[in-house]
Amino acid sequence: MFNETVLKEINDIRVKYPDRRSALLPSLYIAQREFGWLSHEAMLCVSKTLNLPEAEVRGTASFYAMFKNKPVGRHVIQLCTNVSCMILGAEKLVDFIGNKYGVQPGGISQDGRFSLVIMECIGACGTAPAMLVDTDFYDSLTEKRIEEILEGYK
Ligand code: FES
Repeated sequence: MFNETVLKEINDIRVKYPDRRSALLPSLYIAQREFGWLSHEAMLCVSKTLNLPEAEVRGTASFYAMFKNKPVGRHVIQLCTNVSCMILGAEKLVDFIGNKYGVQPGGISQDGRFSLVIMECIGACGTAPAMLVDTDFYDSLTEKRIEEILEGYK
């Protein structure tokens, strides 16, 4: 179950809305932050805390790509390979990340440091290629720049 601090955080969100279902998305974010991903147990905690059916919590969590339904590395790299990024070399960057950090798309590096997720456009086509690391945004990527950026994530 959530600790008292997290329960208070979710309850503070819940009281802002007339319908407790409106607090579901922010509560799922909190659960993912606390557990690292949305396991069955994590979704059960959200269900009990908001007094919502498990099926509704699971259905909502499984609809959105930003919610992780399996364990992830300590840091999640979300690299765009859509058209603008692809034209500017994103697929080579996928290979670079795979070779340098030992993580393939959809996987976790052996040391548990990184997960790599291939994304559709993340809205930075003008400064492609682009990626997110956890919630941090980076653009104008090169192999050297990625290496410098990822050194900051241990
Ligand atoms: S195509 Fe990569 S950010 Fe738009």
